[in-house]
Order: sequence, then structure tokens, then C-alpha cells
Amino acid sequence: MSLIDKLNEIVGSAFTACGLSAELGTVRVSDRPDLAQFQCNGAMAAAKQAKKNPRAVAEEVAAGLSGDPLFSKIEIAGPGFINLNITDEALAKHLMGIAIDDRCGVAPLAQGETVVLDYGGPNIAKAMHVGHLRASIIGDTLRRVLSFCGYKTLGDVHMGDWGTQIGMVISEMAMRHPEWPYFDPAFTGPYPEQSPFDMAELEAVYPAAAKVCKEDESRMEQARQATVELQNGRPGYRALWRHIVDVSIVSMKANFAALNVHFDLWKGEADVHDLIAPMADDLKAKGFAVIDDGALVVPVRNNDDSKEIPPLILYKRDGAVMYGTTDLATLVERMNLYKPSKIVYVVDQRQNLHFEQVFRAARLSGIAPADVELTFAGFGTMNGPDGKPFKTREGGILRLEDLIAMGRDKALARLDEAELAQDATPEERRAIAHMVGVAAIKFADLQNQRQVDYVFDLDRLTSFEGKTGPYILYQAVRIKSLLRKAGEGAAPSSLTLQDGDRKLALLMIELPEVLATVVRNYTPHVLCDYMYRLAQEFSSFYGNCHILSETDERLKRSRLQICRMALSQLELTTGLLGIDVPERM
Ligand code: ARG
Repeated sequence: MSLIDKLNEIVGSAFTACGLSAELGTVRVSDRPDLAQFQCNGAMAAAKQAKKNPRAVAEEVAAGLSGDPLFSKIEIAGPGFINLNITDEALAKHLMGIAIDDRCGVAPLAQGETVVLDYGGPNIAKAMHVGHLRASIIGDTLRRVLSFCGYKTLGDVHMGDWGTQIGMVISEMAMRHPEWPYFDPAFTGPYPEQSPFDMAELEAVYPAAAKVCKEDESRMEQARQATVELQNGRPGYRALWRHIVDVSIVSMKANFAALNVHFDLWKGEADVHDLIAPMADDLKAKGFAVIDDGALVVPVRNNDDSKEIPPLILYKRDGAVMYGTTDLATLVERMNLYKPSKIVYVVDQRQNLHFEQVFRAARLSGIAPADVELTFAGFGTMNGPDGKPFKTREGGILRLEDLIAMGRDKALARLDEAELAQDATPEERRAIAHMVGVAAIKFADLQNQRQVDYVFDLDRLTSFEGKTGPYILYQAVRIKSLLRKAGEGAAPSSLTLQDGDRKLALLMIELPEVLATVVRNYTPHVLCDYMYRLAQEFSSFYGNCHILSETDERLKRSRLQICRMALSQLELTTGLLGIDVPERM
């Protein structure tokens, strides 16, 4: 049980003893650490309900608490805030419990309920670019946090592999290589196993195809035709498509590996193709889907909508399926295969309307029953210094691997500047620079509120000072080095808490509530805030308290134990962001 939970229970029963409801006894870490460690603001609300004076209520509750040896101070402040301090013995005892727990005192929040997380979402045949950064790392962090908190998580990459862009690539390839067997309707197979192109060629085909299709309506028509034929199962197109998928996945995997982003499922829009026709028939039979101007659509508007919500299109007039069709069918599949209690979509905020349509169609039709949580966890844009979506200096879209390389190079320069990792071999230095660079990029992104756009500033985010990934790593490495110097000392039987120790100790009890908030709201930035406070608080502790030079052996052991705990928390939380910590730097 977290310390806050314990306090909630105690203060909650004090409220109950006064004939008030236990929820009013909610305790939190004080906003005014100069006045108290914890506070409870429930007396004000209780007074309103019971039509009493809030201070009188607070005093009654406080009187009920006064016998509890847990508290060293119980005070009423202002209109009826109950301010609480606990004894050092109680705090030390709680911390010793955390110290021996490999979960740093965080109890699971769930009992293995399944959560599907949909993130990453790269499109095949295209290079991954900066736009995929946020989708990948926010989603992967949420997966790690939910999994740590007791959910059975399934991260699905949900590739864009079934839309018109594939038709464009196929028809462009048909122009360039009419001799390939994939385009010969008389060819009976088998098709070559080896792909006739690699990723570099594929990446060059797509922009060229997109350009001609934009300029030439007849080419666009060909692309649409190819899309429909692919979807309808034309063997040569399916075989070519398979190569496009396979070649793309190799390149995606390299990007995701560099970022420590993991997926359990490598599925895409195409995987649900066979579910679409039966789904559409069923929706039509039940009256949820109707023909509208030759297309089959699910009307999803409500009478009280303040803005126009267009119907979800299942089949276009030409028979092609749309983005919404595959998303709805994917919901059918996910419900069937995994029976999740939640499905979370980590996707660009600008796709808000799309998901509103899909969710409404899913609720209306019962594809997603009411007890299954569907969350659109949208994210804002990563902008350049000009406040517009981040571009290369030449104005093009920045490839994800180039961004990662930029982070690594900058990190290398920063290490030199700070005279860090100077005695490492060149190889080690490169590995450390990669870790620092990736930590810088990921932390800079994750620390922002998810929905908000932010400006990517490589100089600032690679700094070893301030709220950055490198700063967090630096503090963790500093503890590692200190503990190496201290050697294998015996763990203390209890902790000795002086002012500097106590501040760090009080912070470290907050982790369970921090993670619960991240799980509830899908907000990695709350965890980043905590990590930054922890790193800062450790830094002050390190600056203000003697550790290795402490002559009082009991105090020294206690402080080393606090260092170990701070390191465990930093390692746990960096791990939850998928950030590696170097051994030294
Ligand atoms: N491939 C899509 C895109 O690039 C993102 C996929 C998001 N997930 C989903 N289930 N629609 O915009």
C-alpha cells in the first residue's frame, strides 16, 4: 500500500467517525511543504454538505486523528485545511519497505485486464519521418507503464498498408517495369520470392507516384483502380504488395529499435480485409449502414452535435474501402481476438474527427460494447523553430533516422563540452552518445503535455542542465559511480532522516500516485515531471549532505541506502520511458 493510500485510509476513517463520508478524507502531498508534508482539504466540502463551519469540522476530524502515533503534527490552517506531518520513524519504516521491493513500492493497479495500444502507425512504402516520433514513443511509454501497473498490454503497430498510396506505388511500378510478372494477368505463378526492389528504391517511387497522381487525373484513376484490384485480390498485385510490406518492415524495425520502441503485434490495415464484407453486410442488415450517393456509409451524427459529423464511409462508390472501414473492422478483430477492456489510440490530434466517427459507429452498432473503454490519446505536432511542423533545412520532411543521428551527434559534442565519457573507448563513447541522444529526444518529447504542440530545439534538449533527458541520465550515472566507490556496504536496519534526507525521502513515496495518474489520463509528462523533481532533489541531497565523507557510520549507511533507492526509481522510470542508462559517462 502506498503511504498516501495509508493516509487516505486513516484520515478517511476519521471523517467516517464524524459521520462524514470517507472520500472527503483524501490526503495529498502538501502544496506548501514549508507548512506541512501532507494536507487534506475535505473539511470545506464536508462543511458545505453538513451545513457546518469548516474549521469546526476540521477540528473534529483532527481530534479523531490526534491519538494516532503516525503523526508528528496535526494542524488546522486557513478556512479548514488539515495539515499533517508524519514521524520520521513512520516515514523511515515505510521507506524500508520500498527499499526491499523491486517495484519501488508501486502495487499493481490492474489484475491482467487486456489493453490494446495502437501506436506508431507508419505507412508502408514511405520512409518513417519525424511525424512518427511522437506516435511511437508516447504509445510505447504508455504500453510500458500500463504493463508495469498490471495490465496485459498489446502494442499494435497498425501499419498503413491498404490505402490508395499502395495503388499509386503499384501503378507507378507498372509504368517503370511493365516486364515484371506481377503485371502480367496471364502469369500463373509462382511469383519470385525475392523482392525486385529495396527500401531506397521504394522510397523513391512513392513521392514520384504521388506527384504524377496529383498532376494527372488519369494516373490517379489508374492508382485507384490498382487499389481496388489489390483489395479484391489480384494475385500479382498481392504478391508485389507482400514485397512492399516486407521491405518496409525491415526499415521500420531499424527505426523502432534505435528508439527502444517495441510492438507485440505487427498488424496493418490489410489484416482485417476479410472481415470487412461480413461486417458491412451485418451493418446493412441491421440498418446501421445505408447507401448514400452510391457509397455505403454509417451515419453517426447526433441531434445535439455542435459541429457537423460526417458519416463514416465503408465503401466508396468505386468499391474501395477507406481508412474508417479498416479501423472499424480492426475493432471487430480486436474485440474477437483479445477481448480487451480498453483500446487506446495514440495518433496525431488532427485525426480526432476520424476517431470520433469510428468510435460512434462502433458504439452504435455494438462492435464496441459500452464497458470497453475507447480512448483517442491524440498528440500535438513537433514544430521547428519557426513554429511550423519540423522540416529539414532544405524544407523537406526529416527522416526519423536522420533525427536520431542528429541527436547522437549533438550528444557526442555535448559530452566533449561537459568533459564526460572522456576515458571511454571510441566505441563506448558512441554507444553512450546514442543513449544520451535518444534520451534527449524522447524525454524532450514525452515531457510535453500530449495534446500540445512543441518546438524541437536540439540545443536545449541535449543540455546536461535543466529538464532534459541528459540531466536525468547524468544524475543516475552519478549515483552509480558513487555506489561503486562506496562498495558493497551492508544495508542499514533503519534510516536516519535529517532535513536533506527527509526531502528526498518524502518525494520518493509519491511514485505510486504518479503512475496511477499516468495510467488514468495517458499522460507521460506527469512521469517526466516526477523524474525531473527526483533528479533535482537528488542533486541537492548530493550537494548538501555528506555521503561518502560522512563520519557517522549509521548516517552514512542510511544515506547510501537513500542513494540506492533514488537510483532504483530513476532506473525504473527511465525504463518506463524506454530510455537506457549508461553505466558511466
Ligand atoms: N497510418 C496512419 C497515419 O499515418 C496512422 C494509424 C493510426 N492508427 C489507426 N488505428 N488508425 O496517419
